[in-house]
Amino acid sequence: MQESTLRTNFALNTTIGEIVAADYRTAKVFENNGIDFCCGGKVALSAICQEKGINPDTLLREIETIKNEHIDRSQNYTSWELPFLVDYIVNTHHAYLKENDEQIASYARKIAGVHGAHHPEVIEIATIFEKIATDMAAHLLEEEEVFFPAIKRAYAERKTGNAPSQEDCNVIKESLAKLGREHEEIGDAIHTIRHLAKGYALPEDACNTFMITYQKLKEFEDDLHKHVHLENNILFPKASQL
Ligand SMILES: [Fe+2]
Ligand SMILES: [Fe+2]
Repeated sequence: MQESTLRTNFALNTTIGEIVAADYRTAKVFENNGIDFCCGGKVALSAICQEKGINPDTLLREIETIKNEHIDRSQNYTSWELPFLVDYIVNTHHAYLKENDEQIASYARKIAGVHGAHHPEVIEIATIFEKIATDMAAHLLEEEEVFFPAIKRAYAERKTGNAPSQEDCNVIKESLAKLGREHEEIGDAIHTIRHLAKGYALPEDACNTFMITYQKLKEFEDDLHKHVHLENNILFPKASQL
């Protein structure tokens, strides 16, 4: 078998999550092609191409082009040490959620009240977002108070050549399963919102608050994709090896 064929087969059997974990810039290619790389990242490239009717060669070429561009270490998340990755997630993505969740929920409630009669989808969007915000608060708390500290302790033990405590191993194992499930639920909920909002296309009678709400929801979704990607595809596999 020729070397190029081997390479192609390898890439086609690789999952979307693995490709993005190896180089986050490839996320743009998947986004542009309407492919979910975080919550739905466990699917092989060949399977998703078949499902979406995309030519795999074109997609591979786009991925190769982006990968050949120079990459800065500040974007090379896989190369970071676990404690640094954990702090990065908390200081960027968790901070974003804590600053924005309540504001977006209140915008969504407002447009539901004003525009709900003509656009019933915004009532549903407000209800779903409310649940996301509540679930997310509990999710972040568990990561910051339970899961991440256990990862840091286990990492420190490994670093000095010792085995992590049984208690931390149990916490990591249980959290991985539970948090992974929650990522899927939250991911599904935000996809439902995108679907209801027709990809955040504004109706003709949209007011400023309507526009800001959709902009914020889109921003929320983008932030969530990156956040869940860093956890599902980089942090979780590394944590499970501790
Ligand atoms: Fe998180
Ligand atoms: Fe999470």
